[in-house]
Amino acid sequence: MRTDTARTIRLKDYKKPDYTIKKTDLTIQIFENYTQVESTLHMHKNPEVVGFPVLQLNGIDQQIQQIQLDELVLTESDYQYEDELLTVQPGKDEFVFKSITHIKPNENTSLEGLYQSGTMICSQCEAEGFRKITFYLDRPDVMSVFTTRIEADAKQYPILLSNGNPVEQGELAGGRHFATWHDPFPKPSYLFAAVAGDLVRHDDVFVTQSGREVSLRIFAEAHNAHKTDFALDSLKRSMAWDEKRYGREYDLDIFMIVASDFFNMGAMENKGLNIFNSAAVLASPETSSDDRFDRIEAIVAHEYFHNWSGNRVTCRDWFQLTLKEGLTVYRDSQFTADTHNATVKRISDVDMLKAAQFSEDAGPNAHPIQPQEYVEINNFYTATVYEKGAEVIGMIHTILGEALFRQGTDLYFETFDGQAATTDDFIGCMEKVSGHDFTQFKRWYVQAGTPNVAVEESFDANAGQYKLTFTQSCRPTPNQPEKRPFVIPVKMALLSEQGKELPISCDGDFNSDTSVLLLKEATTVVTFSGLNAKPVASLFRDFSAPVTVDMALSDQDQMTLATKDSNAFNRTNALQSVFVEVIRKLNADIDSAIPESVDELIKATLGDGSLVDAVKAQMITLPSFAVLRTMFSPINAQALAFAREKLKRHIAVTFAEQWQQLANSLASAQPYEFNAAEAGRRALHGTAISYWVSSGQVEAINFAEALYRAAENQSDRLNGLQAVLSSDDQERSEKLLTHYYRQWKDDTQMVETWLALNAGQKSFDVAQANALMAHEAFDLTNPNKVRSVLGAFASNFEAFHAGEVGNYQFIAEQIVKLDQVNPQVAARFTKVLESWRVFTEDRGVPMKQALEMIVSTDGLSPDVSELAMNALK
Ligand code: PHE
Ligand code: ZN
Repeated sequence: MRTDTARTIRLKDYKKPDYTIKKTDLTIQIFENYTQVESTLHMHKNPEVVGFPVLQLNGIDQQIQQIQLDELVLTESDYQYEDELLTVQPGKDEFVFKSITHIKPNENTSLEGLYQSGTMICSQCEAEGFRKITFYLDRPDVMSVFTTRIEADAKQYPILLSNGNPVEQGELAGGRHFATWHDPFPKPSYLFAAVAGDLVRHDDVFVTQSGREVSLRIFAEAHNAHKTDFALDSLKRSMAWDEKRYGREYDLDIFMIVASDFFNMGAMENKGLNIFNSAAVLASPETSSDDRFDRIEAIVAHEYFHNWSGNRVTCRDWFQLTLKEGLTVYRDSQFTADTHNATVKRISDVDMLKAAQFSEDAGPNAHPIQPQEYVEINNFYTATVYEKGAEVIGMIHTILGEALFRQGTDLYFETFDGQAATTDDFIGCMEKVSGHDFTQFKRWYVQAGTPNVAVEESFDANAGQYKLTFTQSCRPTPNQPEKRPFVIPVKMALLSEQGKELPISCDGDFNSDTSVLLLKEATTVVTFSGLNAKPVASLFRDFSAPVTVDMALSDQDQMTLATKDSNAFNRTNALQSVFVEVIRKLNADIDSAIPESVDELIKATLGDGSLVDAVKAQMITLPSFAVLRTMFSPINAQALAFAREKLKRHIAVTFAEQWQQLANSLASAQPYEFNAAEAGRRALHGTAISYWVSSGQVEAINFAEALYRAAENQSDRLNGLQAVLSSDDQERSEKLLTHYYRQWKDDTQMVETWLALNAGQKSFDVAQANALMAHEAFDLTNPNKVRSVLGAFASNFEAFHAGEVGNYQFIAEQIVKLDQVNPQVAARFTKVLESWRVFTEDRGVPMKQALEMIVSTDGLSPDVSELAMNALK
């Protein structure tokens, strides 16, 4: 176990840097087997600091050629390089530090720093990758103006890119060439980017609201180059939206995107030069499903929006990560909601939050959106910091309303432009514009765990009064045994039995403009008056707070909400709760009867002409295992899998005729178009086919295969193929997967999908996983492929948890192997084992043993060891 280099970093230890870097000049010379980096840093001592502290620069795997202070070339006794720090003694207020070092991008499989991705060389610096490129004060509160010259072979690397504007380019001896880029905006090193490659370029233009022309360029390797149109279009729409909704205009004359096949995350917002995982930017109707189009549009928007929320205003330190990520996820969700359908977006965001974040918040690696300490910052790019962080921003919006919220963001962007800010700075702006006190609200930043709100109702018919008692609680999380009450905004309505919204008059902290009731105490009692019958409470509309809610409803009230609530989010939620309760009963006793309410609800939903297709599909799709598992403790994996399957079959068989009819009526021969209505139609089509196949009718599976074979777009293809794969027809499944691979083996994104389809089959097991990882399509150094196999396997509940217990040992072995190649990606997989305590012993014990095997391994990265050790604490 290597824990010697792992240090705990704490927020309370934050100190301003002793030195700053006004100007950074880099010359990056790319050669066949190494790259030389010459860095010239114009440094100043922080005037508040007395004396002359030593200068300590971060640097990992730097082969030192030369170190220089002003004119003086240092000898080895003048500096120290150990523990990833270079120490020198400048002894001056102002000086130039220069280093020449060698690095090896072609041996860098961590995909952090400068690395080779296919035929190109590219960089990834967030959070602490710049120190793998050169010696630096690699922390976000050191902001510098960068000038970057890249030199490389002209044939192999005709395109040379860095941040900002191009200032010079030319030929060099020996078939080499160079390009120099200058970025006028001071930035932290994590936003630095450099790319060299043989790339195809696609151009477009955006005219900003003030009339400036911005040149837009997307670069991709030749095999990916035909799939950039949609991202360019998404980018232009994002730019226009940010001007309109937030008054934010783009600042440089060029905005570039590069697509890279080897990338640890989705994408990166480097100033003026975003680098994307090719799976998160390249789209075509033939190869990308609606979900993929959705995701690409959102990620393009997200990275673009970072130009203000992240780049112009950056983070003081990494404890502020949610300042940029929570806010930017919130902004990209608003963009998608405005562009397509707000309800559909909200339902899918909340689903994702429940699946990924609630489980994190309930597990051994739970942390607040502003963690107070970490060992490896890369482990904190989590659903909590991102998605719960966005929910917290959303609650501020819910509390203040749109007008004040916008005044607050305007003030924030104006006040902190060009600075490295904190979450307090952001909240301070919201307080200033509104006069609202957010002191107690800020507990959301520092307390981990998902609060639970228990609600009890009573009605006094004589007095015409309806009383709600809200009791909030939050289970202990690591290092936080006790929580203080949160501020919880409850967006609500009281409904008549017919679903009509009733006027609200109450004694609570209720804002009738926003329909938001604020809970601040452990227990809040609110009395609503002027009611002549017991109303039906529609609470937490649009999921107004990231909490779980316990409220015992009568069957009739539950039906009213699930069929008549005017808030489509809550209506969906009510319907899904009915499914959860049925699954709960089946989980306890597989022979228990399925109540008629299920049939009534499906019937009412399918027959409701006021619902758009997309929402209908979301409503009638059973909750995923990822969501279900957060609601069961302990989880009996097999019982849960059987329970869900039984309910699915029941709905499939009961409505087989309707599924068949929908499968036929929702088919379309029109050319593919990506928009809300069309994507919704295809989503409902897929849902109907899936149920129909699950009914066991042979016609259904024939229909699905025919749809797959005739498909001219990836959504139809997957609607057909996934239905076949979910059936018991193994032979047909194999035949179609073989056909798919043969047809698409030269398309990177399609091959990634093919790997995931294989690993997503109910019958997938370790033997098949080994075979897939030995397949020519697999590559352990490529994170997308690793995610397609191991990620898809681990999130395939029926195969992974309800299957053989040896799966856990297998995944542990893969984590250990992968850790040698790419610690950041390996660490993400340790999370699939961390919930061992929630499972019944038959699974929990082998999961724990697999974790123990991991932590007993020599030479583990801090990334994996931090998460795995926490999981065992
Ligand atoms: N900052 C990136 C984003 O949110 C995510 C990222 C983090 C990418 C670390 C790479 C490395 O868009
Ligand atoms: Zn981001």
